[in-house]
Amino acid sequence: MEYSFSRYLLAKQSVDDRALNKDVLSALRANLPDQPIRIIEVGAGIGTMLRRLVRWDVIRQCEYVLVDEMAENIEYASGWIPQWATEAGLGVEGSGENILRVFGHSHNVRIQLEQADAFDFVQKNQEPADLLIAHAFLDLLPMPESLQKLLSLTKGPAWLTINFDGVTTFEPIVDIALDEQIEQLYHRTMDTRQTGGDSRSGRHLFGYLRSANAEILAAGASDWVVHAVNGKYPDDEAYFLHFILHFFEESLEGHPELNTRAFSRWVQERRAQIERGELVYIAHQMDFLVKRNGKKSV
Ligand SMILES: C[S@@+](CC[C@H](N)C(=O)[O-])C[C@H]1O[C@@H](n2cnc3c(N)ncnc32)[C@H](O)[C@@H]1O
Repeated sequence: MEYSFSRYLLAKQSVDDRALNKDVLSALRANLPDQPIRIIEVGAGIGTMLRRLVRWDVIRQCEYVLVDEMAENIEYASGWIPQWATEAGLGVEGSGENILRVFGHSHNVRIQLEQADAFDFVQKNQEPADLLIAHAFLDLLPMPESLQKLLSLTKGPAWLTINFDGVTTFEPIVDIALDEQIEQLYHRTMDTRQTGGDSRSGRHLFGYLRSANAEILAAGASDWVVHAVNGKYPDDEAYFLHFILHFFEESLEGHPELNTRAFSRWVQERRAQIERGELVYIAHQMDFLVKRNGKKSV
């Protein structure tokens, strides 16, 4: 199997659609300033959240700055955004390098594709946003210091979604002791990555947000729950599951505490469970809508 990160992000869309906490989303709708607005999304990947917000009719008139450090993601986004926008019956035009406009009867969305490290972008950004979005991103960063920097990008709310929170479950059981060991070691790799990250970022964000002087307007679980329906996974979710196992392989291959052959058999069995439509995967995550308190600077 070929592993393509952009295909993984595409496959993740339907999983995230179900997972996103709808109460937190309602709070976002209620707290969104009148449009047109400026939105900055950090760690935006190929722009799946932009597409979702158009599809879910959350945004119509806005400037959307999509920031991601991976050149491949930005390049993919520049070809993919016109594709889905056209399929949705919207007009698309490009103006200048990495600027797109998606428009229609009631839509006018100017998109700026920024290939940049989010923290370099914080340094150079001149105009704070009305909304900051960080989706499936904060749990990869050193905390709490990253939060304060990123929150400086908005003068309005921040919607901080899909923050992993310490529970990974695969069913059915392969070997209870090995299943548990693999889960624990995998979480440990998240906690010890050189670039930062936290396997319990969801629960820890409550404290970090308080220290960053940000008020939590809404919070709730946004668990990924992936299972087959009538023996078939929806959309491209079988690929999503294979990619999740690929993350496990990349993180744990050669781990000194893990028996190499047992781990390899475990991965094989999990892949066979996907092919049989048996594998159920659950990852516990949390969403937040927050607003920085006005007076004190963060
Ligand atoms: C798990 S992916 C999520 C992507 C997207 N939010 C989504 O859910 O489809 C995390 C993204 O963060 C980006 N990223 C990681 N560190 C970054 C940084 N310091 N600055 C900007 N982007 C970063 C990666 O390139 C990747 O696209």
